[in-house]
Amino acid sequence: MLDQEPPLEEFTSVQRAFSKQAEHYDEDDLSNHILVEWRHQVYHHINLFIKPNSHILELNAGTGVDALQFVRSGHSVHATDTASGMVQKIQQKIDQFSLRDKLSSQKCSFESLNMVKGKKFDYVFSNFGGLNCCKDLTRVTKDLPALLNRGAYVTWVIMPPVCLWELLGIFKGKKAAFRRFQKKGAIAHLEGEYFMTHYHSLSDLKKDFGPNFLFLKTEGLGALSPPPSSLKFSLKHPLVYSLLKKIDRTVRDSYPFNRWADHIITTFQFNGNEDLR
Ligand SMILES: C[S@@+](CC[C@H](N)C(=O)[O-])C[C@H]1O[C@@H](n2cnc3c(N)ncnc32)[C@H](O)[C@@H]1O
Repeated sequence: MLDQEPPLEEFTSVQRAFSKQAEHYDEDDLSNHILVEWRHQVYHHINLFIKPNSHILELNAGTGVDALQFVRSGHSVHATDTASGMVQKIQQKIDQFSLRDKLSSQKCSFESLNMVKGKKFDYVFSNFGGLNCCKDLTRVTKDLPALLNRGAYVTWVIMPPVCLWELLGIFKGKKAAFRRFQKKGAIAHLEGEYFMTHYHSLSDLKKDFGPNFLFLKTEGLGALSPPPSSLKFSLKHPLVYSLLKKIDRTVRDSYPFNRWADHIITTFQFNGNEDLR
């Protein structure tokens, strides 16, 4: 299964940025209560579909926070990421918790999934906008049929073009309020590195998956409540924050809030027509 690319060589600004971020990623993650709550919403969504003892392929797995959660829930995970720093953190978790039988890691871009070998998967998962580093998602979906068992699920948590919370930035004169509408993508700045991010709507996703995948569900993540980057707001205005969260819970499954949000959680099912591709 481990067709490793050479370790520690970082060719792109995305790889360099996320490798640097890996050093403090878990600390930042745990100290942000919005991120922790968001992960729980994502797990709740996945639990609607996932079968016991599933074999999961995780794309842009970061330091393996979700991979560890899946393993602890009885699944096995092959966790991939393009940044060496992130893959090293996953490997440390494998060693620390003796998880070699249940968790494996591979430095691999989601645009090179043909590098993933071995047993077919029951689930493909990508969390928190890693796929927004990709301009054309067919570069990812093209390799999925060869990797999946019939009936496998795919859940991607991805940033769409319309986010009401971000648009409110207009009233504070923030130029970034419109960043998601730029046709060529928006420039992200992370750890002193610059790279492009691209925003994908649900209808783009449906096209990119094509006829071999059946769309099952979408829900908003941060449809009306503030995102993790607005942590200070949530701490300064706890009552407003909990009211917004309450409203969020009632609307996030319905149009348009299941499409207009900071992220959307979308699930598709592979119908098994691999030969048609
Ligand atoms: C915001 S982090 C999310 C990490 C993880 N999914 C989580 O929820 O903590 C985005 C991740 O996407 C990864 N990434 C970016 N471009 C990638 C690519 N082309 N292939 C695989 N991973 C990529 C980065 O290295 C980083 O680990």
